[in-house]
Amino acid sequence: MIELSVQLAPKHPHGLILVNPVMTAAGTFGYGIEYSQLVDIQRLGAIICKGTTAKPKEGNPQPRLVEFPFGLLNSIGLQNIGVDAVIKEKAPVWAKWQVPVIVNIAGETVEEYGEVASKLDGVAGIRGIEVNISCPNVKAGGVEFGTSPHLAAEVTATVKARTSLPVIMKLSPNVTDIAEIAVAVAEAGADAVSLINTIKGMAIDITKKKPILGNITGGLSGPGIKPIALYMVYQVSKVVDIPVVGCGGIVSGSDAIEFLMAGATAVQLGTANLSNPAAALDVLEEIKIFMEKEKISKISDLIGVAKN
Ligand code: SIN
Repeated sequence: MIELSVQLAPKHPHGLILVNPVMTAAGTFGYGIEYSQLVDIQRLGAIICKGTTAKPKEGNPQPRLVEFPFGLLNSIGLQNIGVDAVIKEKAPVWAKWQVPVIVNIAGETVEEYGEVASKLDGVAGIRGIEVNISCPNVKAGGVEFGTSPHLAAEVTATVKARTSLPVIMKLSPNVTDIAEIAVAVAEAGADAVSLINTIKGMAIDITKKKPILGNITGGLSGPGIKPIALYMVYQVSKVVDIPVVGCGGIVSGSDAIEFLMAGATAVQLGTANLSNPAAALDVLEEIKIFMEKEKISKISDLIGVAKN
């Protein structure tokens, strides 16, 4: 028997135990409902839904995506149905599921984060909140809050004060020192941190002689960013005493195991879901095969083993 369960919020009064460490990342798995027709989502550790704001958002002008052999540049602009519709239309479905759903939230102001968190508090079907202070694609809010330790801490404290759910802060790689931001949110009461969100970038259409994305810039995800994400998880897990959730370019079980060995308690798959809806389940199986082969009986025996 292999023990795969992980505790994502050990300091939280109710905790947040996942049956395994494999989650799907915000914005790449819809509300989970879309994928439930395709794969057995109930076997996942957790699902994180698309970033949710106080009011519905239409998102950025098209084009919003540019594909590369090593990843994807996106500039969605937090298009979403708004928190009220999430509570009314999605949460009742989630409440019947075994797999925990964590709602990713975003805001243009600190108050908006607090308002969305407070509306989600106590809603059946919602097991946690991931706070997006790292979206590089919106003019107001988003990464603005994730690049200042002071503002990141303020958002954390505000959300924590407005919800009894476990709170995971999603960090941006577009900073000089991600460890400093991680420490700030941990000190402000975050139950866990997830990292990394996308890396800011752009692409130019040389025939049209202009940027391809409607918003000019976007965020890069996919296998090309994995070494950067892995290093940041390694750095952050050395300086905080709350769980770290690793994300960035994971496509295989060995990628996920690298993140666990770097200090992550759990991992999120993002871009991989877009080309293979079963990517997260495949990764879970590959982790199990590795553990069996290496005679490792507990996932906790993998976490942080490559840290020194
Ligand atoms: C987007 O909606 O633009 C992507 C979300 C994010 O990167 O946080």
